[in-house]
Amino acid sequence: MQFAVTCGDPLKQPGRAIIIGCFEQDLAAPFVAEFDRALRGCLGSLSGEGEFTGKLNKTALIHTLGRVAPDRLLLVGLGKKGELTRDRMRQAAGTAIKAMRGAGIKSFSSVLHLAAGGGKEWLQAEVEGHMLGGYAFDRYKTAVDSPVEVADVTLLLTDDASRGATEGCVAETQIVCSAVLLARELVDQPGNVATPAFLAEKAVEVSGKYGIDCRVMERDEMERTGMEALLAVAKGSSQPPRFIILEYRGGGAKERPIVFVGKGITFDSGGISLKPREGMEKMKNDMAGAAAVMGAVTAAARLRLPVNLVGLIPSAENLPGGRAYKPGDLIKVMAGKTVEIVNTDAEGRLVLCDALHYAQRYRPAALIDIATLTGACVVALGNFASGLMGNDDGLAKALKKAGETSGERVWELPLWDEYGELMKSDIADLKNAGGPTAGTISAAWFLKQFAGKSRWAHLDIAGTAWEEKGRPYLPKGATGVGVRLLVEYLRGVVQGK
Ligand code: BES
Ligand code: MN
Ligand code: ZN
Repeated sequence: MQFAVTCGDPLKQPGRAIIIGCFEQDLAAPFVAEFDRALRGCLGSLSGEGEFTGKLNKTALIHTLGRVAPDRLLLVGLGKKGELTRDRMRQAAGTAIKAMRGAGIKSFSSVLHLAAGGGKEWLQAEVEGHMLGGYAFDRYKTAVDSPVEVADVTLLLTDDASRGATEGCVAETQIVCSAVLLARELVDQPGNVATPAFLAEKAVEVSGKYGIDCRVMERDEMERTGMEALLAVAKGSSQPPRFIILEYRGGGAKERPIVFVGKGITFDSGGISLKPREGMEKMKNDMAGAAAVMGAVTAAARLRLPVNLVGLIPSAENLPGGRAYKPGDLIKVMAGKTVEIVNTDAEGRLVLCDALHYAQRYRPAALIDIATLTGACVVALGNFASGLMGNDDGLAKALKKAGETSGERVWELPLWDEYGELMKSDIADLKNAGGPTAGTISAAWFLKQFAGKSRWAHLDIAGTAWEEKGRPYLPKGATGVGVRLLVEYLRGVVQGK
C-alpha cells in the first residue's frame, strides 16, 4: 500500500473515490456539509432515512454522478463526536479499507483524518487502520478470485505548510505497520513451514536488509552454553531448536541496551502432557512473542531510533516424540537452578528462563519478555488486553502508557512473593507449573527468578496474539500484537533521554 500526501480541495479531487469521516447525527464535520450541498442534500436524506447516521464503523458508498470531482464518496461513521479516540480512528480506517476492497477500488483519496481536525496522531491512526485492516493472509489460496489489493491512498491536507511533517509521519507509520505485517505473516504461517529454522532464516534475511546484526545458535552451541531448558523442550521434535540473537546499535557505544525476549515455540502440542484436540491447530501461534520481537527490532532499526537494542528468541517445537522430556524429569537450567517438570505443556517459561538468564550478559537497561504464555491470561483478560507483570514500577508505567497510545493495551497483575508458594517443588529448586489458580502470575513468578537484578517486565499475549472473529483493523488470525506497543515504548525511552 502506497501513501501520497497532497494539498487540495476534496470536492475537486478527481479519482474513483474519496473517504469522508462522519460523526453521528452531525453534518458539521469538515466537508460533510459542502458535499451534501453539492450533492443536493443526498447526505442529509441518507441520515434522515436512518440509512447512514454516522455510527462507528458503518459505511455508505455513494455515486456522485459528476456533481463533484471524485466518482464516489465513501462515508465512514466515526461515532459520536465527543467520543472520538485514536482507536476509533484506526477502526474507521480499517472499516473503510474493507469497503473499498469490497467495491473493487484500488486507489482512492481520503480526508478521514481531517474529521478529527487534522493533527499527526489522527493521520497516524488513519494510516494504521488502512495498513492493518487491509491485511489478508492468502498466500496459500490457489483460487483465482483473490480479493482486490488496495494500492494507492492519497491523504488530503488543507494547508501545504504541514506537508513535510505529515509525509515524515506517514513514512514512519508505514515502517511500523509493515513490521506488524511481518509479525502477522510469521504467525499466520502454518507450523510445518514456520519451524525454528525458518524463523532463524527470516531473522537473518530481515537483519541483512536493515543493518541489524544477527547470530543464530544451533544445538551444539546451546549445549556448550548450557541452555538445558530450551534443549529439553526441543527434545520431542525432529525440528532442531534455534536461539536467535538480534542486535541493533543506534545508541552510544557504552550505552546499556534494552533487551526484548520473545517466546518462539513454533508449535505447542503440549508435549507428553498433550493438549486436547479442540483448537490445537491454533498453537502454531505460540511464536507470536518471537514475531513481535522481530518486528519491533526491525522497525526500530528502520526508524533509526537512537537506542541500543537486543532481541533474543529461543525457538523450538513442543512435541511428544520418543525422546521428549517427561513429567517427573529434572533439568538444570542455564542459570544453574534445578527445575522439576510437572507439566510438559508449561514449556514457554522454560525456553524463556534460559533466554532471560542469557540476557544478563548484556546488563540490560530494561529487559522485556513477550510470550503467549498462559491460557489463564485469556481467562482473566480476554482478547482486549495483554497481561503485564514485572519487578519495576517505572518500566510497568512506561509500558502502560505505550499501551494506551498504541491501542495495544496492557493490564498489570500483582506479582507478590506469596505466589512463589505455588512453584515449590519437593525435589528441586522450582517446579515448572503451579496448580489451577493464578496461572498467569505463577508463570511470571517463575520467570522473575531468572531476571536477575534487571528492570524486567513480562507481557503475556496469549489472549491478544490471535483474533477469532475479525475486528476492523484486526482481521481474523494473527494480530501482530506487541510490535506497535514495543516501538511506542522505545519512542518513550528516546523522548525521556
Ligand atoms: N502456549 C500455551 C498458552 C496459550 C494458551 C497460548 C492458549 C495461547 C492460547 C502455553 O504453553 C501453555 O500451554 N500453558 C499452560 C500452562 C499450564 C500447563 C501451567 C496453560 O496455560 O494451560
Ligand atoms: Mn504449552
Ligand atoms: Zn506454549
